[in-house]
Amino acid sequence: MTQRRPCVGGNWKMNTDRESAVALARAVANAAQEHKLEQHADVFICPPFVYLDAVRLELEADAPEGPTLGAQDVSEQPNGAFTGEISSAMLQDLDVEMVLTGHSERRHVIGETDDVVNAKTRSALDAGLMCCLCVGETLQQREAGDTDRVNETQVRAGLAGVGAHHLDSLVIAYEPVWAIGTGRTATPDDAQAAHAHIRALLADLYSPDLASGLRILYGGSVKPGNAAELFAQPDIDGGLIGGASLDAEGFIAICQAAAQTCHHA
Ligand code: 13P
Repeated sequence: MTQRRPCVGGNWKMNTDRESAVALARAVANAAQEHKLEQHADVFICPPFVYLDAVRLELEADAPEGPTLGAQDVSEQPNGAFTGEISSAMLQDLDVEMVLTGHSERRHVIGETDDVVNAKTRSALDAGLMCCLCVGETLQQREAGDTDRVNETQVRAGLAGVGAHHLDSLVIAYEPVWAIGTGRTATPDDAQAAHAHIRALLADLYSPDLASGLRILYGGSVKPGNAAELFAQPDIDGGLIGGASLDAEGFIAICQAAAQTCHHA
């Protein structure tokens, strides 16, 4: 059985300005090169849309093995009268390789439904982008004992109509809403339980073989100090990092923890 390659993404959310975005990308690329991270892990960064091009130019300048470029969202529409939206083709025009769909802030703050998340996921995958589908329960849902049911609903709905041939381009991120930006991390055991449940569901939806090859990332207050114990869990294949990805040194320490700790098959 082949090992799953560790994967870590930095979701910068609505932070940085042009200058600090370029500087952060440069610092991440330099550190990634210094630690030869590309030999051990996939690393991507998701700057705000408006800085993607500036970051791309910086990364292309002399960091061929630096992080790949991701976007925080994508439209499900190919083009047309959709004011403010950004299409897959526009992102590919800027060498973006990965998009996030279903992030909890888009579900719970912007109001995206499971149907919208599914349309975005399918559209991005059909266009040839990698897609990181994010799922996770709220505190209320966890306290009501609904964690697995909520994740199951979001995974099933998010992947409706996504064929097995797309799974190579898919990553799942489990991000419990109550752990995002709160400093409250899921315990390694709780995170592992949710990941194992999601992987079992994927085995059901596709096949045990395909499910065992899919990367499931954990997100929610991951820091250099707690990354290794999370990533040591057998079904946690890396992380999606918010706040801690805004500090290059901390982010790279998390990537190194993934490279050293996630060797799951
Ligand atoms: P924090 O790491 O800031 O909790 O954010 C996690 C997240 O939402 C990544 O997408």
